[in-house]
Amino acid sequence: MIFVTTSHKPAKEQVLKARKLAEELGLPYLSRKNHSNLLSFVGDDYCYVVESDRIVVKYKNGSLFFHPSTAKVRMRNIKKGLKDHLIECLGLKGDEFILDTTFGLGAEAILMAGFLREGRILGLEASVPIYVVVREGLKTYRDKEEWINIAMSKIELLNYDFRTYLSSCSDGFFDIVYCDPMFENPVYESSSMNPLRPFAVYATVTDADVREMIRVARKKVVLKAHAKDSMFERIKVDMITGSKKSQVLYGVINKK
Ligand SMILES: C[S@@+](CC[C@H](N)C(=O)[O-])C[C@H]1O[C@@H](n2cnc3c(N)ncnc32)[C@H](O)[C@@H]1O
Repeated sequence: MIFVTTSHKPAKEQVLKARKLAEELGLPYLSRKNHSNLLSFVGDDYCYVVESDRIVVKYKNGSLFFHPSTAKVRMRNIKKGLKDHLIECLGLKGDEFILDTTFGLGAEAILMAGFLREGRILGLEASVPIYVVVREGLKTYRDKEEWINIAMSKIELLNYDFRTYLSSCSDGFFDIVYCDPMFENPVYESSSMNPLRPFAVYATVTDADVREMIRVARKKVVLKAHAKDSMFERIKVDMITGSKKSQVLYGVINKK
């Protein structure tokens, strides 16, 4: 059963927030008082738990919550002078409007936003549980590293499948379109991605999708794939960069 509840002994505001979320999602609200062992009610489904400072999705094998995870490590590495393939191939000036078509937990969007002075990012996430957790995280999470908070304030997230969204966009509406679909060859050692896997949308990015991304981008489209995935065999890009060690590749299509 999928439902919304709170953590134990909730404050009034938590109950109100949980009831509002249940209404928004068309799900039942269950008072936590009568449901101390959540997982026995969840079965093979999941539930939303409104905690005092975040929303967590709990399921049989774990929980999904927002955290900027790899954004911090990658920014630290960049500051140490190490190359970040995504940031290098974006070549940001700082005023770009970027569409992140596959937002996930938003680690890469936060990293990109860390390089935008006046620019902004619009993120799209098709999975409702991921969207709900991350929307709340962007609103309420505060990090000790101030650049993360500033970066998060430059991001807006919508619950859309990118195909639907792109079809409504005018030509060249965004400077850059970024797409990082779930790999065909998952990297299970990527611990930050594991909680997301049961909820993620696994649609293949097609030629037609990429044509739409090119139409909507003014400067470039950046696609991400695992070296063993079929993405860059199927889709022609102008340049591929990435790490031999991690086998993560970024393909760049420049608008002529
Ligand atoms: C690999 S993750 C993205 C990770 C992200 N770059 C980050 O740094 O956290 C891919 C995400 O895109 C979402 N997704 C897949 N296909 C989508 C689609 N057609 N429209 C919108 N979101 C999609 C998945 O649900 C998943 O959350």
